[in-house]
Amino acid sequence: MKREDIDRILSELGELKCRTLKEVEEARVRFLGKKGEVTALFDEFREVSKDMKKEFGRSLNELKKTVQDKIEELRNTVGGDESVAASGVDLTMPGDDFGLGSRHPVSIVRQEIVDIFRKFGYDVAEGPEIEDDYHVFGALNFPDNHPARDMQDTFFVSVGHPNPLLLRTHTSSVQVRTMEKTDVPIRVVCPGRVFRNEAISARAHCIFHQIEGLYIDEGVTFADLRQAILLFAREMFGPETQIRMRPSYFPFTEPSAEVDVSCNICHGKGCNICKGTGWLEILGCGMVDPNVLEASGIDSKKYSGFAFGMGLERIAMLKWRVNDLRHYFENDLRFLKEFEAAPEV
Ligand code: PHE
Repeated sequence: MKREDIDRILSELGELKCRTLKEVEEARVRFLGKKGEVTALFDEFREVSKDMKKEFGRSLNELKKTVQDKIEELRNTVGGDESVAASGVDLTMPGDDFGLGSRHPVSIVRQEIVDIFRKFGYDVAEGPEIEDDYHVFGALNFPDNHPARDMQDTFFVSVGHPNPLLLRTHTSSVQVRTMEKTDVPIRVVCPGRVFRNEAISARAHCIFHQIEGLYIDEGVTFADLRQAILLFAREMFGPETQIRMRPSYFPFTEPSAEVDVSCNICHGKGCNICKGTGWLEILGCGMVDPNVLEASGIDSKKYSGFAFGMGLERIAMLKWRVNDLRHYFENDLRFLKEFEAAPEV
């Protein structure tokens, strides 16, 4: 028995190629079978002189292990044995395409609006969906007996507590939290999910999404508010867009306004989307009430600000002319797939 015998088998093993399990079995017999090459070396080993036994013994055992591993590896990788080949299955075929999901239309709209306000220098703030009465109502100048606190509108999580927990009905609560912990000047938008106890219909849902904005600094005026909303509307709905402001009421802003944008579908001629008026309502806004600033520790003599808020589903409905709010919540793939390429209309 010679060292070269071991090396020869190792190099043969290195070149060994098998295409079928049958060939792997043949290789196994060739090396490890009763009359195999490795088996033969074990027979010769008996003749080896005593002082060489130790060295050869170890090499021989290593060789056997290497051959066994190689055979095992071939057995696993060859895989496609004759029965697979005979069955006509082509294992080299590419797999079936599994469709990737697409972004939800509400997410697309939220991202678009956040991007616009980021360009204007606004940060993004988020807050809890389960809030307390103080951050949703109290700090926002809602009188104790204001109807919006009524069980009709608000889902309370706990009752009987002086500051009960509830599902936030607007993301203005995030603005309060921002005012509490951030130094003026403040410029934030707060996107998030909100909850109101409303019957589900084509135009209302008990869960929807808002984006609200807040800007506080020295000398902020209603003109700044109007300009910010106009710039936003033009970025969002096109450069020709006009806005109009109608007086409104919110407990936390004074004066308050509702904003309409010119209908980008009929361009003012009147269509069924704008119900013949040429205008579409998109958001509520106003100058932050001094009481709200003071409640969060901001000096209302020195600072003023504006706030605005809009519903994302509503903007998405206008953008893609979806006529039923419920589509956004049903996760019907036929609807969601419409937005794979986020078509603009
Ligand atoms: N929070 C109001 C709502 O949910 C929207 C709003 C925000 C109005 C800020 C004015 C100022 O309807």
